[in-house]
Amino acid sequence: MKFGRKFLLLGILILSFSIWLQACGTGNSSNGSSGSKDKLIVATDATYAPMEYMDDEGKIVGIDIDIVKAIAEAAGFEVEFKNYGWEPLFAAVENGEVDFAVSSITIDPDREKTFDFSDPYFVANQLILVPEDTDIESFEDLKDKKVSVQINTTGHKVVKGLLGNTSLDIVATETMPLAITEMLNGNADAAVGDNSVVLEYVKNNPNVELKTIEDASFEKEYYGLMVQKGNNEVVDLLNEGIKKIKEDGTLKEITGLDIE
Ligand code: ARG
Repeated sequence: MKFGRKFLLLGILILSFSIWLQACGTGNSSNGSSGSKDKLIVATDATYAPMEYMDDEGKIVGIDIDIVKAIAEAAGFEVEFKNYGWEPLFAAVENGEVDFAVSSITIDPDREKTFDFSDPYFVANQLILVPEDTDIESFEDLKDKKVSVQINTTGHKVVKGLLGNTSLDIVATETMPLAITEMLNGNADAAVGDNSVVLEYVKNNPNVELKTIEDASFEKEYYGLMVQKGNNEVVDLLNEGIKKIKEDGTLKEITGLDIE
């Protein structure tokens, strides 16, 4: 029958088109239709011990990495970490080159204009690192000093708030270890950065005479996983995992912190 044959042909056409579409989709890391687990690509700046850094074998490890692995297990996806470095990771998330970033990234209203964030999974604050024999006692005391920070971090923002956006007394470096080196070399009087990383440096370098200063003006900062703006699928997946590891105690086990 003529009519039936036309339908058969149309059916074959639709079928082959949908097979072709599926084949195209398998390259997409966040495609949910296949039976195996999705693999999400995660950008990081692995210069930030103990949060994300390279171990002796060149493997990306750290507290943030353990947290993301736990989230992935809880929400049923796989992850692959890529060491982009701090500034490039923002571009990689923005243009969709990676599915999200983990890097002790503070959820900050300025960043929320360009990115989406997961729910918070970690709480931190800034800390001042100075030579032990310094006369600096508070954040206010940095006003007429040179201060080193990792570029475009919340530490950088806080120091700009005190010294001015274009101050030449701010030494902004690519990584936090470099910011600390500038202070040790005398190119800066103090370094400012996230507490866990500053404290880790002090712990690992007992022979360097340093002290840390907390300041009441430093606000609590909440870390989130950073996602391309509008990618609700990934945000929801991450939040599902975060919720689970908060509820079953895994997150607290990894971080030692209570976070709501
Ligand atoms: N929490 C700070 C911020 O979001 C510093 C994060 C730096 N992280 C890193 N892996 N270098 O700006």
